[in-house]
Amino acid sequence: MYDLSGKVAVVTGAGRHRGLGEAMAKRLAAEGASVVITDIGAAKGTQFSSEHIGMTAEMAEIVAEIEKAGGTATAHVCDVLDEAQVAAAVKKAVDTYGRLDIMINNAGIGYLMSGILDLEQKDWDAVLNVNLRGVFFGVKHAAQQMIAQGDGGSIINTASQAAKRGFAGAAAYVSSKHGVVGLTRTAALEFGPHNIRVNAICPNHVTTGLGAWQNEHFSAAGGQGEDEYMAAMQARIPLGRVGLTSDIAAMAAFLCSDQAPYVTGQNLDVSGGEEMH
Ligand SMILES: NC(=O)c1ccc[n+]([C@@H]2O[C@H](COP(=O)([O-])OP(=O)(O)OC[C@H]3O[C@@H](n4cnc5c(N)ncnc54)[C@H](O)[C@@H]3O)[C@@H](O)[C@H]2O)c1
Repeated sequence: MYDLSGKVAVVTGAGRHRGLGEAMAKRLAAEGASVVITDIGAAKGTQFSSEHIGMTAEMAEIVAEIEKAGGTATAHVCDVLDEAQVAAAVKKAVDTYGRLDIMINNAGIGYLMSGILDLEQKDWDAVLNVNLRGVFFGVKHAAQQMIAQGDGGSIINTASQAAKRGFAGAAAYVSSKHGVVGLTRTAALEFGPHNIRVNAICPNHVTTGLGAWQNEHFSAAGGQGEDEYMAAMQARIPLGRVGLTSDIAAMAAFLCSDQAPYVTGQNLDVSGGEEMH
């Protein structure tokens, strides 16, 4: 549907099955882009346990699936907490495929959740540092490369519905995603003169690995069964269903294609109408 042949993309947090990063990376590859699949790749302490993150074996599986479908991809470990690793992920794209046209800053954590009175600094810092500082590193290093190339580019940040409203019990997550909106708008201003478009996608609920954990967590916190919790969620969404990874991938493909040449600085709801601003 969109011709991305000849374009090169880096997607962070793309190494987990059922994830938004995986879906966006696969869609870009299906449209002809060469894709660097990046993720943290290994468990790190209690905040990045294996049940929550994309491991190197899973990254390799996703690359193999893309190649089997006729696409081009490679895997690269990148912890977005470390600026040097984010810079190295951009360099990996340039070394492997010659350039960088698309950067999707998607890595995020939404599982260190507690009410403000119980929220510890270490969890606040981890969420803000992955979800906001990590996006800043990605925007910065992608833009540097795109400016050097001199022919524009598309940067997409995965924000959230949590960038548009508060959610009780999710202060760090909500704050980080609101920050992504401000960063996206500012980057669009700074890089517009270089024809680098910077946009954010704001999904509502998608039952990814992270989404499944949130369903369990928030239904229990609200004293509801998971079925009851999901039914209430669907009932408030105008289109009557929760999001699919393909919904988010479709928006990403559009935003980084030549069909969106005049779209920048936007924080686009992909939420079945649940969010409208
Ligand atoms: N699922 C939803 O309902 C939903 C809704 C709105 C926004 N989002 C956002 O979408 C993005 C993807 O989430 P998802 O739902 O696909 O979950 P996911 O768990 O499948 O993806 C998140 C990825 O981020 C990676 N990651 C975590 N810490 C990292 C680090 N330090 N360095 C590099 N990678 C790291 C994880 O390994 C994982 O692969 C996140 O930014 C999330 O906040 C998700």
